Amino acid sequence: MDELDKIRAEALALVAQAASLEALEAARVATLGKKGSISGLMASLGKMSPEERKTAGAALNAVKDQVAEAIAAAKAGQEAKALEEKLARERVDVTLPVRPEASGRIHPISQVMDEMIAIFAQMGFEVAEGPDIEDDFHNFTALNIPAEHPARQMHDTFYFGEKADGTRHLLRTHTSPVQIRTMLANKPPIRIIAPGRTYRCDSDMTHTPMFHQIEGLVIDKTTHMGHLKGCLMEFVTTFFEVDEVPVRFRPSFFPFTEPSAEVDIGCSREGGELKIGKGSGWLEIGGSGMVHPNVLRACGLDPDEYQGFAFGMGVERMAMLKYGIPDLRTFFDSDLRWLKHYGFVPLDVPTLSGGLTR
Ligand code: PHE
Repeated sequence: MDELDKIRAEALALVAQAASLEALEAARVATLGKKGSISGLMASLGKMSPEERKTAGAALNAVKDQVAEAIAAAKAGQEAKALEEKLARERVDVTLPVRPEASGRIHPISQVMDEMIAIFAQMGFEVAEGPDIEDDFHNFTALNIPAEHPARQMHDTFYFGEKADGTRHLLRTHTSPVQIRTMLANKPPIRIIAPGRTYRCDSDMTHTPMFHQIEGLVIDKTTHMGHLKGCLMEFVTTFFEVDEVPVRFRPSFFPFTEPSAEVDIGCSREGGELKIGKGSGWLEIGGSGMVHPNVLRACGLDPDEYQGFAFGMGVERMAMLKYGIPDLRTFFDSDLRWLKHYGFVPLDVPTLSGGLTR
């Protein structure tokens, strides 16, 4: 039975050395498998006398059980170890704080400009830009406001110092100079909006020296006042996210449009709460009109061939009306509490398909 002891020792050593589940399986096959060392001994039992077979068989079975047990124990150990490793790998620290909400906010002016751009872009308008520092020609003369025209006084212009040639640069008093720059640089058809900063030397409850406008300009051969009305009516219902917003065009005057109209939208003030939509009240939101022939001429366009409309709106005013912001001056106080309250989450980009405001 020396041989049995040897085989047992070898088998147990093999099991003890197996460092993985695969190695253990190999050890099992080498010992208890069909052609394994222990199974080989079993076969030799057949050649023994019944007496011998009885003792040898019992001893062999004991070894077989011992090895099987060793394999089972090693396997359980290996599995426990593998589980430990997996748990260690996939460890999650549940005590970590949740990802904090982004604390920056988009200023309502930026938000409202993005909303307006989204709406007009859908209608086929392109965004155009011009400089904040303008000259007389673009801000006034080309817009049919010649020198000494009373409209120049109305604009409360910030002027820069006089240059050697007697001219002065100025901070643009409206976004309309972008109309001029666009018409000078492009051939019709033209369909642009120009959002941007504007400046007037005026500061009180309802005026800030810097504010924002959005300009619209369409020039081609057939565009008429009906298109202007349709465009702005479509814009206000989409912008205010209200089913029906009455729009009223009130005859007015701007040197650069003829005819000119101020644009009012319907509202109700029932119960002291201002609501955009059907109601007994009206709110002015901007100016508009058909581009004046003199303006077309100043840009080298023949008014007998080309025509179109223009409009201008105040961005702060639109933001105040839409989001119920009561005081214009708070837009520029840089008060973080205000911004946290009225601002917008950065990733909520306004789109028509996803919703302007969510
Ligand atoms: N530029 C005008 C203003 O600032 C607004 C306007 C734009 C009016 C275009 C008519 C057409 O008051």
